[in-house]
Amino acid sequence: MAAASPSWGQSYATSGTEPYRVECTADAEGTMSCRTDLATFLGKRTFDEYCASCHARDALGSTFAPSLVERVRGLKRTQFMSLLERGYGGEAAPMTRWADVPAVRTYADALWTYLSARATGQLPPGPVNLLPDASGP
Ligand code: HEC
Repeated sequence: MAAASPSWGQSYATSGTEPYRVECTADAEGTMSCRTDLATFLGKRTFDEYCASCHARDALGSTFAPSLVERVRGLKRTQFMSLLERGYGGEAAPMTRWADVPAVRTYADALWTYLSARATGQLPPGPVNLLPDASGP
């Protein structure tokens, strides 16, 4: 993983009007196989590593942490960033101040991109691979 960046989040260039690119195909059994741009791919990797333990695989939520697929629909990017920065001091399952975790800080924009793709429904649950022409930093 890249060295920690001093800035909060990091920008990725993507083409098209959406902040992400997702291409999915279904095989004969109906199993979806999806490929994405680099930001979405890195966002999923960061999510799986740091967030899935509470918010569950594919961000669908658990008994003690909300589904981010639903919550992100009601959030603006800046609100998401400040939630991550602040964390939660809740009694049941406090959430870390992610601003203190360099790996999450560096990929905050990628997390937003991944969760946006999940929230719009364009990226279904499941593993993702990189698009062959995925460009990035
Ligand atoms: C230790 C468990 C835990 C981990 C790990 C965790 N969260 Fe959370 N998160 C929570 C809980 C619990 C809440 C709800 C707090 C509340 O509403 O009181 C929450 C709330 C949120 C919210 C706000 C939802 C809303 O609308 O209020 C966002 C956004 C969020 N988490 C993103 C993330 C991201 C991104 C990661 C990974 C970097 C992450 N969380 C990792 C437990 C966790």
